[in-house]
Amino acid sequence: MTLFSGFSKFDRQQRIKYIIEHSKLTESESSCLDEYLAPVDHQQKTYHDMIENYIGNFPLPLGVVTNMVINGEVFIVPYVTEESSVIAAASKAAKYWGQRGGFSAKIDSMTKKGTIHFTWNGKKTVISTLFPKIREKLVLATTGITEKMRLRGGGMTQIQLIDKTAELPDYYQIDVSFETSDAMGANFINSCLEMMASVLLNINELNLDGDKVEVIMSILSNYSPECKVNCRVKCPVEMLTGWSKNLSKNAFAEKFKLAVDIANLEVSRAVTHNKGIFNGVDAVLLATGNDCRATSAGAHAYAARDGNYKSLTSIDITDDTFRYELEIPLAVGTVGGITRVHPMVKTAHAILNYPDARKLMMIAAASGLANNFAAVASLITTGIQEGHMKMHLSNILNQLNATISEEESAKNHFLGKSINYSGVAGFIRQIRDLK
Ligand code: MEV
Repeated sequence: MTLFSGFSKFDRQQRIKYIIEHSKLTESESSCLDEYLAPVDHQQKTYHDMIENYIGNFPLPLGVVTNMVINGEVFIVPYVTEESSVIAAASKAAKYWGQRGGFSAKIDSMTKKGTIHFTWNGKKTVISTLFPKIREKLVLATTGITEKMRLRGGGMTQIQLIDKTAELPDYYQIDVSFETSDAMGANFINSCLEMMASVLLNINELNLDGDKVEVIMSILSNYSPECKVNCRVKCPVEMLTGWSKNLSKNAFAEKFKLAVDIANLEVSRAVTHNKGIFNGVDAVLLATGNDCRATSAGAHAYAARDGNYKSLTSIDITDDTFRYELEIPLAVGTVGGITRVHPMVKTAHAILNYPDARKLMMIAAASGLANNFAAVASLITTGIQEGHMKMHLSNILNQLNATISEEESAKNHFLGKSINYSGVAGFIRQIRDLK
């Protein structure tokens, strides 16, 4: 096996040529890498400069969910998703709850954390006695970095020494809490931590009997359980009409509760239940230029916070009232990162009327709850395939290169019928054979 160095030094055309020579990509297939380049030069440059080893753009559909009522305000919510029926499902649930008072959302805190992980091979008492002085130096060293953030109401709010030596010999943490205003804050937090880590190392110059600090790493934590949003819907059971013809309102509520109880009991169901939440959350976070890998990692850890992975939603039916709630940590930003760089991200923020970070957390959570509610409501009534395959019909027709008139005939033919690839392909074949 020969490994190649220097690919990153190639220009885009050289990279594509290299790939054609070393993979199954053909010259003609590679033309689609050109077809999706942005027509405007400065936009194309933006995409090109955003990553390493760039070869082309990879478009995903952007759609919107209308009628999303959150704390009395109506939003048009941009979704980037590849999955048929995600937007249809969220729209149905958003309108349903919009007619029943909408989503109520609140945020208790926006605190994020970062940690300097280090070892100290001296006595515990030495490091803990020195720590108040060290903390002063850490704050002082970062005043330049934190200045702008402090002016925006953010900055570092707490710096603590944590002794972890019982779990790992000599291991300590400096645990730092941050407020990052409307920024997600990853770069800000990491810059502060790295600066503080270099100051922490100054202890070694005190020559404390040869005892030493070694910094292992300094990094923000994507586990941000304090930076959490709580989003709820609520209505009298009497108003739970319209989702199922076959279930009474009470039976719908009770069956819905059982579905959530199962998600709290069974990890195999909990993961899929929560995946339905991320159908909405990630679609909004992608559209608004947020790092949904970070939020997903944090939220899944939160779902397992008591040792068992459970549903991120909870349900309560008392006093004839249906209450359904999502609690999810979501460290997101509306400034910084690619929010002002990616042209479509700017568009998404404009569609949302330029929310601040708190509002975006609520919008993403309401979207997650909308998608989850729609999924569970369908699962306990019709099943999801009916709605999903109705939307997926267009994908199948595109795969079959159906003409507009073939598409129309197929859509009429499959109205109310079950849809699968071979059924649709057979139908299109029949039309074509008749010609
Ligand atoms: C599909 O994208 C999402 C669902 O599987 C979620 C769920 O099962 O709750 C329908």
